[in-house]
Amino acid sequence: AALSLAAITAASTLVTGTASAADDPIVIKFSHVVAENTPKGLMAQKFQELVAERMGDRVIVEVYPNSQLFGDDKVLEAMQLGDVQLAAPALSKFGRYTKKLALFDLPFLFEDLDAVDRFQQSEAGQGLMSSMEKKGLIGLGYLHSGLKQFSSNEPLRVPEDAAGLKFRIMSSEVLEAQFEALDATPLKKPFSEVFTLLQTKAIDGQESPWSNTYTKKFYEVQPYITESNHGLLDYLVVTSSYFWNGLPDDLRAELKAALDEAVAYGNQVAREKELEDRQKIVESGRTEIITLSPEERAQWVQAMKPVWKQFEDEIGAELIDAAYASNR
Ligand code: LMR
Repeated sequence: AALSLAAITAASTLVTGTASAADDPIVIKFSHVVAENTPKGLMAQKFQELVAERMGDRVIVEVYPNSQLFGDDKVLEAMQLGDVQLAAPALSKFGRYTKKLALFDLPFLFEDLDAVDRFQQSEAGQGLMSSMEKKGLIGLGYLHSGLKQFSSNEPLRVPEDAAGLKFRIMSSEVLEAQFEALDATPLKKPFSEVFTLLQTKAIDGQESPWSNTYTKKFYEVQPYITESNHGLLDYLVVTSSYFWNGLPDDLRAELKAALDEAVAYGNQVAREKELEDRQKIVESGRTEIITLSPEERAQWVQAMKPVWKQFEDEIGAELIDAAYASNR
């Protein structure tokens, strides 16, 4: 039988020595996969600064961007083992721990980030953050990246244009179903490999918010971007319950306050980047941005909406209704 999680974490603590002498500062490793100049990258830096300012003698935050330390396929296990203390993987990447967060991947669920905010701040949205506590993971806050766009080697105007093409997806069953609904082929691949897969034409396309498409230069190797806003890329800032609950109460409260401030800042950045990074891509002249007419958009909705029914039992119809109602 498997060792209990507590035993594993306790053992790894002994080995890595994170349970250090009382006067050594606590080290928080924050691992993420995106560039520094993104909502998540800048949120992590802000958290690092706030902690240094306010409790620098007691806590040191080390930020590891660009998949330097862990990719998202490994980071949650590493967290359970005590090798990393903070991460903010996409909500799409928690499928092994909870089915509920798949809600956020449903295509065309949220019209804009205001609707996302309303739902995330609601009781139902806040409740989801604690859906993995039994697995040793605690959600500390939601962070936006933004609404996703399709990019491709082919112009995508109507759903039929995607048929037969290969798209990189995050490891999410909903995203898999979404591309299958288009008769396209979804391939689960780490974020760190997307640029090369596109550049070598091993895949035809991908879906990302403007900030990732810009900072990882996907637009330089993709002749078309369809401004589809068809789905959401958002994050859950997450820590291990073993680490978090083991902190002194006063320090935990101070860290949470600093994190809340950093997340609010990151969410502001996300809104700015949606416009700024889109504009930089336009100005680069490297790719054609396709905007959809209302009729074309309706066809995408019609093609992808059946995915909701497919996952209704796992996610819960009430939860889906509550999220959809946040569009007002
Ligand atoms: C992706 O894999 O596309 C995203 O989760 C990357 C990120 O963290 O924004």
